[in-house]
Amino acid sequence: MLFNNSNISDSPIRQKIREFYRIDESVAVEHILPLAKVNPEAASRAWEKARKISLKIRRDESGNGAVDALLAEYTLSSEEGVVLMCLAEALLRVPDKHTQDALISDKISQGEWRSHLGSSDSLFVNASSWGLLVTGTMVDYADEREKDSFDLLKKIIGRLGEPVIRKAMNYAMQIMGEQFVMGETIQAATEHATKQDRQGFVYSYDMLGEGARNMDDADKYFKAYQVAIDTIGAVSLASGKDDPRRVPGISVKLSAIHPRYEFAQKQRVMTEAVPKLKALCLQAKKYNIGLTVDAEESERLDLSLDIIEAVFSDDELAGWNGFSMALQAYQKRAIFILDWLHELTVRVGRTMMVRLVKGAYWDTQIKNTQKGGYQHFPVFTRKASTDVSYLACAKKLLEYRDTLYPQFATHNAYTVATILELAGNDKTSFEFQCLYGMGGSLYDQVVASENVQCRVYAPVGPHKELLAYLVRRLLENGANSSFVNAIIDDSQPVESLLEDPVEKMTRLTDKYNYQIIKPIALYHDENGVGRDNSKGLDLTDINMLTPLKTSLDNWVEANQFCESNIPEGAVAIRNPAKQSEIIGFQRHHSKDDMLAMIDTAQTAFASWSQKPVSERAALLCSIGDILEHHRDELIALCIKEAGKTTQDGIDEVREAVDFCRYYAQQAI
Ligand code: FAD
Ligand code: 2OP
Repeated sequence: MLFNNSNISDSPIRQKIREFYRIDESVAVEHILPLAKVNPEAASRAWEKARKISLKIRRDESGNGAVDALLAEYTLSSEEGVVLMCLAEALLRVPDKHTQDALISDKISQGEWRSHLGSSDSLFVNASSWGLLVTGTMVDYADEREKDSFDLLKKIIGRLGEPVIRKAMNYAMQIMGEQFVMGETIQAATEHATKQDRQGFVYSYDMLGEGARNMDDADKYFKAYQVAIDTIGAVSLASGKDDPRRVPGISVKLSAIHPRYEFAQKQRVMTEAVPKLKALCLQAKKYNIGLTVDAEESERLDLSLDIIEAVFSDDELAGWNGFSMALQAYQKRAIFILDWLHELTVRVGRTMMVRLVKGAYWDTQIKNTQKGGYQHFPVFTRKASTDVSYLACAKKLLEYRDTLYPQFATHNAYTVATILELAGNDKTSFEFQCLYGMGGSLYDQVVASENVQCRVYAPVGPHKELLAYLVRRLLENGANSSFVNAIIDDSQPVESLLEDPVEKMTRLTDKYNYQIIKPIALYHDENGVGRDNSKGLDLTDINMLTPLKTSLDNWVEANQFCESNIPEGAVAIRNPAKQSEIIGFQRHHSKDDMLAMIDTAQTAFASWSQKPVSERAALLCSIGDILEHHRDELIALCIKEAGKTTQDGIDEVREAVDFCRYYAQQAI
């Protein structure tokens, strides 16, 4: 057996979830459209309410936040926006000043900064534009490429150079950090919350830190969660409320508590991460506060369901109703996960809270799928489809209120207004959630007028742990498809933000968004011409893994050798990971054999070199196709002959296929 997948949980609902992991997009959208329909009267009331709320958000927030203004000016659809994003991300990571300066010089020479100068009312944006313009042109000046009226100025500022810009950028990053982080310590954050005393608001604290690289990191993050739960627990006890739904809680990322929280490491993760999560849950149970498992990359989702099932159904947690998990509506399989959760809670006889989000890793999922050469994306490619999925999930979640407590996490006023219509009169049977530093005006209005609780997700920690979280917030705030981005853009009427997603997706015949390059077309030009990307295999997708495993096992079965099979004069080839296993044999040629082969090759070259380039390139391409066709067998060889992991085997074959296609194209 090349690898083991015998421990896969396979109830019918889990199978459905897997079937929809990377399903054709139109199948997924057609499935949820009827489930998301809202009756016309409720839909029209929701639209009116959303419009009213949005107009007030615009009045309250336009030009108010430094970060909003910065991101509105430098949208991620401009080159400068992308450069800023790279800088924000990189400056937090680069430890030394020299490298930071080199990076600034490199990045800002790319943008057209001057066009932004003076086009925003915010001093912060203008200051940034100015700084970037100056340094950007200074880099050009150093190249002696640009001569214009800015010359004198450039000379003066040129003396200040990158260090000044570095300080300004770092300061800007700090401002951003402060906008999104509630406190550097859990003590400071809880005190901040107490001082603010916002009626109708509670918190879910998130200890910054994720993607632990080793056990030391994981232990550090785990201890931070433990300390935080004790602090939050004390605050909760002091409030006198004994209900996880009404008191502050904690949010936990599984990637923080285990460095190999990966599908391929299931056995190890189940043995090591499940007890850790259980320990945190037991601690939360002690104070009767809530604990939410955040949703992360889609490749981890299947495994997260196993972990959640194991911990949630543990007898020692009986009597505690504070368990919660986040569910991302942008996943094509989201709707079925709700059925699974409902079935789980009924089976275990305990309630659960479910935080419904749209999903914060969209860009990563798209890129990973393109890079991996998979056939379909795990997420929708149209924003409206994610909105449809959110509504379909919201309706189902509200129907399952017998055992599930819905927590609707969104900053979109239209989504909020529609949910208020769908939820009916029992305003205590669900809650809304927002992120710290976002959705302020929206929830001030909703909490006051609708009497629904809002929980604020409050990140806590030092700025050095902020990077990943900040990048997701910058992407969210900077994307022009986001509600929070569009609402502060006065040039768009608020009505343009209130298009019914169900109507839109019903109307569109093409459910796929062709602006998103399909993985196979990654190397095509704008006319669709170019080499095809090699096909990949997602080892976190059981529907791909199972046939691959069968195919690899068959190959092994058919290629059993023992010493007696080795012809005379040949040498056995052994599996480097298991020397007793013979996987084939090789012969060493004699000098005469070799010379004869060289002769054959030389003779063949004479006619080969006369063939037109297009014919030779076509032949090279067909070699690529043949390699791809024999992929499984080649992967098996990589594993058995070279001791590679399955993923390495896949990558080796893909590289070979890509090379054939690449050089064929280059030759042409
Ligand atoms: P909208 O502007 O209505 O929607 C934006 C979202 O639409 C994007 O984030 C993306 O999900 C989706 N989208 C954008 N473009 C496309 C496209 N072309 N095709 C398909 N979909 C698209 N996220 C997590 O992943 N895990 C979590 O655990 C998590 N916890 C959260 C907790 C809270 C309290 C909150 C408020 C958010 C949390 N989020 C989490 C982040 C959340 O996913 C984003 O804030 C959310 O997606 C933004 O949605 P919206 O309804 O506010 O905005
Ligand atoms: C994130 O970390 C809020 O969990 C969400 O982006």
